[in-house]
Amino acid sequence: MALFEKKKSETQLAPPRHIAIIMDGNGRWAKNRGLPRTAGHAAGAETFRRIANHCRALGVKYLTVYAFSTENWKRSEEEVGGIMKLLKNYLLEAMRDMEKNRVRFCFFGDLTRLSPELQELCAQASSASAEYDVQVNFCLNYGGRDEIVRAAKAFAEKAAAGECSPEDLTEERFSEYMYSAGVPDPELVIRPSGELRLSNFLLWQSAYSEYVFMDVLWPDFSPADLDKAILEYHRRNRRFGGV
Ligand code: IPE
Ligand code: IPE
Ligand code: MG
Repeated sequence: MALFEKKKSETQLAPPRHIAIIMDGNGRWAKNRGLPRTAGHAAGAETFRRIANHCRALGVKYLTVYAFSTENWKRSEEEVGGIMKLLKNYLLEAMRDMEKNRVRFCFFGDLTRLSPELQELCAQASSASAEYDVQVNFCLNYGGRDEIVRAAKAFAEKAAAGECSPEDLTEERFSEYMYSAGVPDPELVIRPSGELRLSNFLLWQSAYSEYVFMDVLWPDFSPADLDKAILEYHRRNRRFGGV
């Protein structure tokens, strides 16, 4: 009984304000079933829908998901095309259900490499949802290093034009040049699939995030797995360099 009571009170802890997830393991999930990799991505898209709903139900304000990296273009045309098609279908569905779901869509990444049709859909989804206050950030053609280089270039251009001065640059001001401008840093970053690396995700923003690596492939990731990651987060002792 005592154990049960402890568990209950732990799950009632406030969720992190911002959770970020590296949605990894779709390919292996498909391979394990003798299916093409695109079937894994389709299953992964379903998991995203479930987990986004669960985050909203828990009261998470920001959910950032790594959907396609600057390095993922190395994959076959068939696989990349399959991912882009799933993305298009998801965005069309999201536009249809916008009033019901009330989720704000933002996109982190260089969208100019996406098809004009997808770029248009991303623009429509973000402008149509701008008023909602639960925010999902999709990282598409996103790379943490690319984001920092772009921020540095943007700042340098302003400085060269005389609009700002290098001496005035602070960590806070530099953050405003990132895709994540205005979004608090994620308290919790989750990577399923068993890989123990960042793969170029949120390098700037996750300086003090708690990482939870889990041995489950993304298509199998359940709301209960998210609860487990949040419990693990609450058990961490965050010191931010202090004692
Ligand atoms: C993540 O799953 C989805 C993308 C990178 C687009 P993977 O496709 O990387 O799956 P694994 O890692 O090969 O199993
Ligand atoms: C990271 O996963 C990118 C996404 C999940 C979108 P990858 O599967 O591309 O990363 P590596 O190749 O295992 O590092
Ligand atoms: Mg992978």
